[in-house]
Amino acid sequence: MSDMQRLNAEQRYAHELAALRADDDRPRPANWQLSPQRVVTYLMGGTAPDGTVITPKYVGKRRLMETAVATLATDRALLLLGVPGTAKSWVSEHLAAAICGDSSRVVQGTAGTDENQVRYGWNYAQLLAKGPSREALVPTPVFRAMEAGTLCRIEELTRMGSEVQDTLITVLSERMMPIPELDEIVHARSGFNVIATANNRDKGVNELSAALKRRFNVVVLPLPDALDEEVAIVQQRVADMGQGLQLPLPKNAAEEIARVVAMFRELRDGQTQDGKVTLKTPTGNLSTAEAIAVMVGGLSQCHFFGNGTLSAEDLGANLLGAIVKDPVQDRVVLEEYLETVLKKRADYGAYYHALLELL
Ligand SMILES: Nc1ncnc2c1ncn2[C@@H]1O[C@H](COP(=O)(O)OP(=O)(O)OP(=O)(O)O)[C@@H](O)[C@H]1O
Ligand SMILES: [Mg+2]
Repeated sequence: MSDMQRLNAEQRYAHELAALRADDDRPRPANWQLSPQRVVTYLMGGTAPDGTVITPKYVGKRRLMETAVATLATDRALLLLGVPGTAKSWVSEHLAAAICGDSSRVVQGTAGTDENQVRYGWNYAQLLAKGPSREALVPTPVFRAMEAGTLCRIEELTRMGSEVQDTLITVLSERMMPIPELDEIVHARSGFNVIATANNRDKGVNELSAALKRRFNVVVLPLPDALDEEVAIVQQRVADMGQGLQLPLPKNAAEEIARVVAMFRELRDGQTQDGKVTLKTPTGNLSTAEAIAVMVGGLSQCHFFGNGTLSAEDLGANLLGAIVKDPVQDRVVLEEYLETVLKKRADYGAYYHALLELL
């Protein structure tokens, strides 16, 4: 087994992708590895023709994945939008892996991203020695994806300055990148497209310009509607991550996941599940991704320092860290939740005591 901390989706799920490629006789857009229907099967789970089980990657509405895949088959780019932790990056990686077999062409958008990271840069030693030439040009992931006819992912698009975002306009509408220094133009091959992600919660984001917005189809990834759905996502991802980290899954993990997710949802929604008690909401967003992180932290604590049964004590510190992001405001929120809700629930007694002790 490889000792890489994390494999790319296309490496990790190579057997599933290979099984889905076999007998795929539905029409495929140029340079796609799979038909759109098979891409959706890869994302949502199912079985390949040879019986290989395809694990679900995205848990949620199939329709959203169909829209995402259908968009990528057109000349519009895809923007996955949503609050943090709604699987935007995860879906973007799996889409790229299934469609073009390569999810590694990524530009991470930050406030410091400049145009050269979107278009191309120069190798200055070569530039001085030979002047502007193709050898001196340093292609970016966008550039390479255009040349190869693959997908390019842009993470956190709205963190890049607006003027940098706008360098994508020509790329997306004319499907070409001019290189004025060489008096050349790179035309995108079929199969090229962009999957961008952006979250609509963070501070310090730059709005997309109207011109750029028009080039994207937006798919909003929601937080899971139902408790069961969210519990299923966390169970699946925790089992998966635990395996990668070689952390055994205690027998009672499923019950504790259900409790943690239920607490997260109540705090996030600002009311108890039965709707009877109104609660203050914490400043953090208590996403599914955070529930996963809390559980994985708890598994590790339980494995190394616990007794083999996952307890509220194992999870307490991570839970507190997830809920109390603002030391003043969120403390009050949690105290209120403990006293008005958890204290009265017999099956949450261990959490009440563990959290109270840490507060
Ligand atoms: N509906 C879902 N289906 C499957 N996995 C999910 C779902 N929601 C969240 N996850 C899991 O949550 C984790 C975090 O997701 P990811 O990093 O993609 O979030 P994000 O939306 O990109 O967040 P951010 O805005 O912070 O970048 C992943 O491990 C993913 O598997
Ligand atoms: Mg992300």
